[in-house]
Amino acid sequence: MESLITAVRSGAGPAELLACEVPESYRAVHLRRGDEKLFDGESDRDVRRTLHVGEVPMPELAPDEVLVAVMASAVNYNTVWSAMYRPVSTFRFLDQFAQQGGWAERHRQDHQVVGSDAAGVVVRVGSAVRHWKPGDKVVVNPPYIDEQDPVAQQDGMMTTGMLAWGFETNFGAFGDFAVARATQLVPKPPHLSWEEAACNTLCLGTAYRMLISDRGARIKMGDVVLIWGAAGGLGSYAVQLVRQAGGIAVGVVGSDEKADLLDRLGCHVVINRNSVGLGADGEEKPGAAWKALGSAIRKEIGEDPHVVFEHVGKATFETSVNVVRRGGLVVTCGSSSGYQHSYDNRYLWMKLKRIIGSHGASAHEAWEANRLLKLGMVVPTLSKVFPLEQAPEATRSVQLNEHEGKVGLLGLATEEGQGIEDWALRKRIGEDRLRLFRDHAATAVSK
Ligand SMILES: NC(=O)c1ccc[n+]([C@@H]2O[C@H](COP(=O)([O-])OP(=O)(O)OC[C@H]3O[C@@H](n4cnc5c(N)ncnc54)[C@H](OP(=O)(O)O)[C@@H]3O)[C@@H](O)[C@H]2O)c1
Repeated sequence: MESLITAVRSGAGPAELLACEVPESYRAVHLRRGDEKLFDGESDRDVRRTLHVGEVPMPELAPDEVLVAVMASAVNYNTVWSAMYRPVSTFRFLDQFAQQGGWAERHRQDHQVVGSDAAGVVVRVGSAVRHWKPGDKVVVNPPYIDEQDPVAQQDGMMTTGMLAWGFETNFGAFGDFAVARATQLVPKPPHLSWEEAACNTLCLGTAYRMLISDRGARIKMGDVVLIWGAAGGLGSYAVQLVRQAGGIAVGVVGSDEKADLLDRLGCHVVINRNSVGLGADGEEKPGAAWKALGSAIRKEIGEDPHVVFEHVGKATFETSVNVVRRGGLVVTCGSSSGYQHSYDNRYLWMKLKRIIGSHGASAHEAWEANRLLKLGMVVPTLSKVFPLEQAPEATRSVQLNEHEGKVGLLGLATEEGQGIEDWALRKRIGEDRLRLFRDHAATAVSK
């Protein structure tokens, strides 16, 4: 009998896929419960030591789930957190989830398959799945939402049981197969290769909710938006969304190479944070740094930002609160540099500023963001692609901030460039735009 993997690779249809047996185990990048204390007393929590590549058992499929053959996936910062076992071990999330009983109990294992962005082919659907079938080419949106919670009808991200797939759940993206809820799927944009399709959803969806959605900043034409880490995962999509919404993107980056990349992406104003005293170790002289940044923005645009796009946390949050204009908004979804922030609250209340917390994207927001990809209004920011076996190295590069945009992993796709169906659309958008981050990374290597 033909193997399921061979059938997927050959583009088999639903009947052929269903005729193949689902294997009892599969290759996956996983963490081990036994490694929870590995880094105790160590300062460099090197993720290469805790991300293991090997066989794991195939889980049973719940009625509302799909089994996806993963053609490609992408690294997100949450895998850095999981593999560092910081701020807590993600096995704690699996144990909490398992307490719900029923199908949730499957997630409590001594291994966790991590990864929150994947593109692939549906190979099995649970008995309650209505909108998807074997053979469908899909991308997985990470929020794992209980759609039977009434709040989900309004906004899935507000459901109390919402979990981040492959971070707070098991059976995530970094394997030859992944298990997702049917409600997590969006159609794969046909003009993108597997690895280009896999790298967007988590960061693009999150940036979409933060900036465009009714639940976020709802930016409008002419708004000045300050974007930290503007050449990183979230930031590279934020720059594109601000441009498309008619706003003025002010991108902050940590090197001249990244500044050059942002110029090519069309970021209106680019500031190297080293030039305003916000270097590698964070803000050394808080008062001076925010004034220097504010002056640099005023010099370029003549105004203060309406919105600050925050995810760096401790190292930048006070600056963000201070530089945003009177009545402006800081929208935050993370704290890479530390989650205990401090700022002078007088700058907030006396200038009528606001802070909004944001997380992921609802199914509807993910569809809207995916639509922008399909229209060519937003392009993937994939800079490098590694084979799945090198996921530990790929994740290490993100941990050390050595990457630009997104870092991809090839799963069942045997080489880059597979999976493209709509060549005409690709041509209209332009290879130079679609390959901007990869070409830039390749040039940097060859220098
Ligand atoms: N809640 C959610 O739904 C959600 C979704 C996605 C991500 N996140 C979180 O958001 C954070 C960023 O994610 P990401 O995917 O964008 O990561 P990323 O690709 O690593 O990008 C982060 C950027 O932050 C910048 N940065 C690092 N240290 C800095 C410092 N001290 N001061 C100023 N900028 C600094 C870096 O740019 P430069 O060095 O060029 O300045 C880097 O490119 C992570 O903590 C992640 O967990 C949350």
